[in-house]
Parts: sequence; structure tokens; C-alpha cells
Amino acid sequence: MSTGKHESYWIETSSFPNYEKLQEDTETEVCVVGGGIAGITTAYLLTKKGYKVTLIEALKLGHGTTGYTTAKLTAQHDLIYDQLISKFGEETARIHFEAAMETIDFVRETEKDLQADFQISQEPAYVFTDEKKNVRQIEKEWQAYEKLGIPGALVDEIALPLSVQKAVRMDNQAQFHPLLFLQAMAEYISSHGGHIYEDTRAETIEEGEPATVKLKGGGSVTTKHVVIATHFPFYDFKGGYFARLDIARSYIVAGKSPHTYPGGMYISIDSPSRSVRSAKDKSGNTLWLVGGDGHRTGKGNNMKEHYSNLRNWGRSEFDIGEFDYNWSAEDFMSLDSLFYIGRITKRTQNLYVATAFRKWGMSGGITAAKEITSLIENGKSIYNDIYDPARQDGIKGIGTLAKNMVEVSKELVSGKLEKTEKTSEELSRGEAGKIRQNGKLVGIYKDNDGTVHKVDTTCTHMGCEVHWNNAETTWDCPCHGSRFRASGEVIEGPAVKDLKKVD
Ligand code: FES
Repeated sequence: MSTGKHESYWIETSSFPNYEKLQEDTETEVCVVGGGIAGITTAYLLTKKGYKVTLIEALKLGHGTTGYTTAKLTAQHDLIYDQLISKFGEETARIHFEAAMETIDFVRETEKDLQADFQISQEPAYVFTDEKKNVRQIEKEWQAYEKLGIPGALVDEIALPLSVQKAVRMDNQAQFHPLLFLQAMAEYISSHGGHIYEDTRAETIEEGEPATVKLKGGGSVTTKHVVIATHFPFYDFKGGYFARLDIARSYIVAGKSPHTYPGGMYISIDSPSRSVRSAKDKSGNTLWLVGGDGHRTGKGNNMKEHYSNLRNWGRSEFDIGEFDYNWSAEDFMSLDSLFYIGRITKRTQNLYVATAFRKWGMSGGITAAKEITSLIENGKSIYNDIYDPARQDGIKGIGTLAKNMVEVSKELVSGKLEKTEKTSEELSRGEAGKIRQNGKLVGIYKDNDGTVHKVDTTCTHMGCEVHWNNAETTWDCPCHGSRFRASGEVIEGPAVKDLKKVD
């Protein structure tokens, strides 16, 4: 039985043009760093408003987290409204709901304006549980829906053939193809005077008015405003984002079932979590997208197990025979569950950040783009500053903050004491491990051609020990989620420098 390719369906079915690398000094009005949904939508909105925009992406547009999402466009962000009402009150919860609902309208309008097809379909969204102990949470979430006037229902069954104790349904939600959306906006930006560069990594920022974004390998962008939309902010020390974001990886597999997909988008709150939606493949067949099995980045030994767990579940619950795709994504969570969108600190007027979308980057990214566009244009929040990163979230999120600090200190100390198991001679092709060389830990990976890559496994962000991810063949950092190729090049930050190569 085929387990499918290690690729995202969204990436395989989109075709961005290649954009050149920026290596010179240039000037612009707004420099957007990051070519995912938050960055491209911000650049699109600002270009439409007549700003001179330069967007730089470290890898390829849409090949960060946006290319590896489930692409649910929904205001149902797990269970959140009961929590928001009790932490912040009804007004904040209502703003959050309305902001997310507006993103669905935004995608529809953009599809019309750009005469494109983003494969949007309207679907109900469900959060469900099959565990008695979780039923109360679902009921409380429904009470929150009722308070806020959110259309939906509390139900005992869902249309999927799964055993369920209770579920809460939100009506009029949507799913779409995220990269067709990004592709159309990128084309608009380029054809309306904006500049897009790929393979262009921002390394640091010289603050000021104007500010200068310094690029890895040379070159710079001098600009009035900088928008940091790199998922985990690459410029993270200002504002202490390294201590305020929790990290998790989760997985998706996609395949075909003999059953007719009943419609809807589903997510469970049980452990391990499960998420289900559908999409059409290139031949018009229905793909069942099964996601979940999340865990803290860099934790665990055999990451391939997460894919096989999902495939086994898809086989047993939906009779999915053949799988076509397998992919995974990293998510960041704020201390208090609300996104961080706005000025990087209260006192920094021209640096903006967009992050902490949890698993809800489609609505989070578009919300961020709208908010930052408004802040740049007239200095005002359109969401009553509820996402302001400078808000007092320390007390509310003190548990997460403490957990993060403990995790980092533990990794800094115990990571270096890790045991080594194999020598480079003992490794099979496609396998990795760690050895001690001159008393230091060295990561070794023997690729499929037999070439051995050796790297210093000290993360270049803050010095934690990176761990091998055998599913993605990457070195992942458990402290703040930086990821590096087997040969050491940084894939995603906050690290901006590669792991040191070792002879
Ligand atoms: Fe921060 Fe590795 S130490 S990402």
C-alpha cells in the first residue's frame, strides 16, 4: 500500500514564478520580511494603497508554514471563545470572532478582484470530543457561542463515521487552496510596482527612521517601515518573543477513501488530536486530509511515527487505502492565546510583527495584514488593539512563560550531556546521529549518496542543542523552533545563521 510522497498537496499544485535574490542595497517605503500568508497579504494591501513595497523571502514564496497548513479558513480556533470571555471579556471575544469572519469575506473578494480561483468552499466547522472528561469544555464553548451570537449548534453526532460524545458546530466557515491565493496576490504586487525577492534572508535590522534591513551575504533594504512576517520573528530579542512563544509541530496525511466525504471541517480536543477536511486532487477526486499528532518541536525520537499514526487512523476510521501526500508544519502560540500583531514594542514606531497564529494562520495571517496596513496607513488599530504585542500578557500566561524558560534551561544544560550511539561508519544511508569530537557533540548525517554531513549541533539562536528529525531530515531546536537542513543551513528561525559545519 502506498504511503505517498513526502510533499504538501498545496505546494505540488501551485506554481509560483522564481523571483531573483537581492544582493544589493535598495530603498523602499515598506519592507515586508516573509513570503507567507501574512507577508504577502500585507504587501498586497499596501501595494493596492499605493505604497512602494519590497518583499523579501528567505526561501521560496509560500514554502514556509503557509504551504504546509490544513488551510481551514475559520473563526473556530479550537476551543477559544469561552476562554477569551473569561480572560478578557465579551468584547474582545467578539472582536476576535468578527476579525476571523472578515477574513473569509476578504478571500472571496480578492478572488473576485483578481479574477482567480482559490477553490473556496463554504463548510461548517466542528470541534468534537469522544472523551467524557472533555464534554464540559465543549458545552461551555457552546455557551460562549450563544453569548456572542455565533451561528452553530451543540450536537451529539457529526457527519464523519466517528464515535463522538459531543461537538460544537460553527456555521458558514470555509476552506480553500492557500497557495493559489498567495500566487495571485504576488502576481498583483509584481505587476503594480512592488518588488519581490526570494532566497534573500534578513539577518538583522538597524533601527531608526529610516530603518535598514541587513541581508545575509550582503545587501540591505533601507525603508520607512519594516513588517516582520517570518512566522517566528527573526528579530526576536526586542520584545522578548523568544520567551513568549510556545512551539509545536503537527502532521498531515492525505489520501482517497471509498466513502463519499460528507462535507465539513473537524478537529478533536482529545489526545492525540485529530483534524479532518477534504480537498480535490488534480483529477477531481476527493482527498481526505487527516491531521494531528502534534508535539513540541524537537521532542521525541522517531518523528516518522507521527505520519504512520495518522495513516493508521485514516485507514481504520475512513478506509483510506492509498495515501498520496505527507507533510508537517510548525505552529507558535502566544502566552494568552491571542495573536501578536502590531508594533514590535510600544516605543518602536516603524517595526511591526505578526506571529502566534496557533494553528490558525489563515485567518491570523490575513487579520495581521489588515491590522498592520491600518497601523502603517493611519497609526490606528482596527481591532481595538486586542492583538497589540505590547499588551500585558505576562500574568495571564505566566504558566507558559515559566514552562518555556524551564525548557530552554534544561536544553542548554542537559542537551550537551546527550549520549552518542553510533560512529559515522556505523550509520546507514539516510540515517543521522551524534558523535563526540574533541569533547563536543557533532551531528552527522549520511545522505542517500553516502556523503557524510557534520555540523555543530549548537543552535545559532541561543545555544540550545538541536535534535534530529528523521521524518523531515532536519535538525530541529526544541527551545524556540529553529530548523536547519541536514547540512546545517537554516530553514526557519528565529535563528538566522547556519549551524557551523565541522570537518
Ligand atoms: Fe532558540 Fe534554538 S536556541 S531556536
